[in-house]
Amino acid sequence: MFEILKRDGLARICRFDTKHGTLETPALLPVLNPRLITIPPSVMKEELGFQALITNSYIIRNDPVLRQAALEKGVHQLIGYDGIVMTDSGTFQSHMYGEVELVNKDIVAFQRDIGSDIGTVLDIFTEPDWGPEKTRQAVDETLHRTKEAASIKGEMKLAGVVQGSVYPDQRESCAREMASMDVDVHPIGGVVPLMERYRFADLVDVIIASKKGLMPARPVHLFGAGHPMVFALAILLGCDMFDSASYAKFARDDRLMFPEGTMHLADMKTLECECPACRAHTLESLAALPDKERMLALAKHNLYASKKEIERAKRAMHEGTLWELVETRCRSHPALLDGLRRLREHRKYLERFEPLSREGAMFYTGPESLNRPCFLRYEERYFERYRQPPNKILVGFEDAERPYSRTYAPLMAKLSDVADAHFLVMSPFGPVPIELDEVYPIAQSLFPKIKDREMEEHVKEMMEHFSHCQQYGMCLLYDGEGTVEMLSSLSGEKSDFDIDVAKVRAVADYQFGKGAADALFDGKMQIVKSKNTDKIRNVLVDGQHVVSMRAPDGLFTLRPAGAKKLQKKFPSPRMRVIVNADSAEFNKEGKNVFGGFVLDCDPELIPMDEVLVVNEADELIAIGRTVLVRNEMLAVKKGLVVKVREAVA
Ligand code: GUN
Ligand code: ZN
Repeated sequence: MFEILKRDGLARICRFDTKHGTLETPALLPVLNPRLITIPPSVMKEELGFQALITNSYIIRNDPVLRQAALEKGVHQLIGYDGIVMTDSGTFQSHMYGEVELVNKDIVAFQRDIGSDIGTVLDIFTEPDWGPEKTRQAVDETLHRTKEAASIKGEMKLAGVVQGSVYPDQRESCAREMASMDVDVHPIGGVVPLMERYRFADLVDVIIASKKGLMPARPVHLFGAGHPMVFALAILLGCDMFDSASYAKFARDDRLMFPEGTMHLADMKTLECECPACRAHTLESLAALPDKERMLALAKHNLYASKKEIERAKRAMHEGTLWELVETRCRSHPALLDGLRRLREHRKYLERFEPLSREGAMFYTGPESLNRPCFLRYEERYFERYRQPPNKILVGFEDAERPYSRTYAPLMAKLSDVADAHFLVMSPFGPVPIELDEVYPIAQSLFPKIKDREMEEHVKEMMEHFSHCQQYGMCLLYDGEGTVEMLSSLSGEKSDFDIDVAKVRAVADYQFGKGAADALFDGKMQIVKSKNTDKIRNVLVDGQHVVSMRAPDGLFTLRPAGAKKLQKKFPSPRMRVIVNADSAEFNKEGKNVFGGFVLDCDPELIPMDEVLVVNEADELIAIGRTVLVRNEMLAVKKGLVVKVREAVA
């Protein structure tokens, strides 16, 4: 079974059950060469804490002694490890040394017979320099072999490798075909040469194309990725598993791996590593160790550094700061920065998985931050969903301390006295009408005061776009006292702009879609504010509580009366998660919706969206928040799908 415990964008923390225990991902599986053991597997588990490792069935099968022992005792006993053992098939050997004498059926059956927890198909390694036709033939053969492997896998979990060289269409269609097969894990293969040559932009394209076609309810393994440099980026793109032989190879070469890159022991001036392998050493004492001991220490260091980086990325996921981590990491090498910059091409896809809001504030770390899906989200929703109020004059303010409505309150009061004015801030996210200033991530973001050119250019483009679609009688930029005087002499009118009413209306349309405000606030509206903070808390219509506004992200939670209004306004499946009768019985009591019980849902739903839980007859049963997107909701068989807040009688 596979369960998504936590997700942030495409990144996720999952649990994957195998015969030898449950793997929590993201996870690194160290490579064990059964003929050249650098760190004994027991040490790997007990001392370094690796729950799973990967070894090569081809090497075992080719050695008569190992082969016999593996068939008699099983692979776990052979290598002396009671954790999860994944086996590879010999494909990588064919990439390294040319054709190998091997038949798919035989090597898959062998992996099954030696008790591998996760065995791998004998896929064809599609090299980055292959043309499209050669690649297509290799993909077809890989798919054929995967089907064959699935029919004989028995109890073993099967890894079906996505190939397709650097052709995104071939990667995606290969992934899609595999998704329909009885396969349990999806490695993305053929990427080692991309990583060796630091072609991280191409790596990004390959991962995203593969993810598009794959089943979200299966772990994705990035084959041969074992450098801590790439973990954060790969995790952000939804890779769950990694494997590394590099820790040992690099150690043999006196090289230490860090998230910032690789250092040769001879080039290091200091040893600033607190890992258990380095802690007792100075640079000199480490360098002076006898060859074998030194190699062991460095191999351990490399594994500790890798493990720590995965833990670091997990922490960032919990804290909602994975983008910040990735942007920081990708600045450690220009080639990684290419990978980060390539994400701009994929922002539309990434936006589908971007949560409605995060707990922490968004930190701008540089121009690449503008490529984040939260910028695209705001831009699209603002231009598609926002309706300006009827005021005649628009006064534009510069970006300032947030929340803008507090910063500019005195000025707005002054201007409203002399003109029929509405207000907007030229923020790095684009034009922010003053009533949207508390919505995530507008208020929950930090930017440097000294702006870079890209950001200035971005704001300019947005404002130009705005100028084409706005319908005010007049727009002007606030330019000190002169603006007040000018407006005063010009109109002499007063503004009747009510920021509270405008806010609840604008947020409703921004969050639920155009027309939501009309549907929700269709009667006598009463806005209840907090006595302490003066922030909007609840909105009542004709005495019924329809929505509450959340202080942390400035967005709404729906109450039953509001949910009913939106249900009436928007036809199914809009805003719906349609559950089967078994689930409905539970949800009726306020219990959560779990995987395996969802019949269908709105394809536009994003993580953290407010949803209407309905039965097949479109009867409203409960209100909650999504944790997954549609294809995940339909694919997962286990785990939380909708966090139900309250049942609707
Ligand atoms: N190890 C590294 N890359 C690959 C790959 O593409 N396929 C297999 N089976 N193993 C790998
Ligand atoms: Zn160390």
